[in-house]
Amino acid sequence: MKVDRVLITAEEISDKLAAMGRKISEDYAGKDLLMVGVLKGAFIVMADLARHIDIPVQFDFMAVSSYGAATKTSGVVRILKDLDEEIEGRHVLIVEDIIDSGLTLHYLMRNLRVRLPASLALAALLIKDGINRPPIEIKYEGFHIPPEFVIGYGLDYQGFYRNLPYIGVLAEEEGDEE
Ligand code: PRP
Repeated sequence: MKVDRVLITAEEISDKLAAMGRKISEDYAGKDLLMVGVLKGAFIVMADLARHIDIPVQFDFMAVSSYGAATKTSGVVRILKDLDEEIEGRHVLIVEDIIDSGLTLHYLMRNLRVRLPASLALAALLIKDGINRPPIEIKYEGFHIPPEFVIGYGLDYQGFYRNLPYIGVLAEEEGDEE
């Protein structure tokens, strides 16, 4: 497999995360923030975004997986790793690399809201356009991208390519699957 083309350069990502970090720092000024990364994809966005935030921040991670294609459409996901921390009364910011069908986030937001955080918001680097998804409020948006299979900057193809410093599109080859 080869990268067909670069969709978003490393510099564009860096500029965007810097702006996002400034906005987050302003919005949460005077508060403590808990950033929650959704593994695995979000680990790179989380690390780079966090370095543009200049208020007190703590970190936690969740790992989730869908039960399979049929149940994914029902929005049921399995929690493989839950938060280490209680979030009641905390300001929680979920960090995602990409929002595709939106089902992961829809489930997570519902799941975390019942734990009574002081606030719950979402930051996502990529939002796929042209997808019918449940309503999700994305407070901090990076880039809108066309509905293509993208890799890099945390996003994988068969576990690889997460370390690419840019977002790319894979060249299509016969017989390939996501
Ligand atoms: C990706 C991404 C989001 C989710 C978004 O994770 O990191 O968590 O898919 O898709 P959705 O909007 O259709 O729910 P993936 O399941 O590929 O796991 P990974 O992060 O471990 O690669």
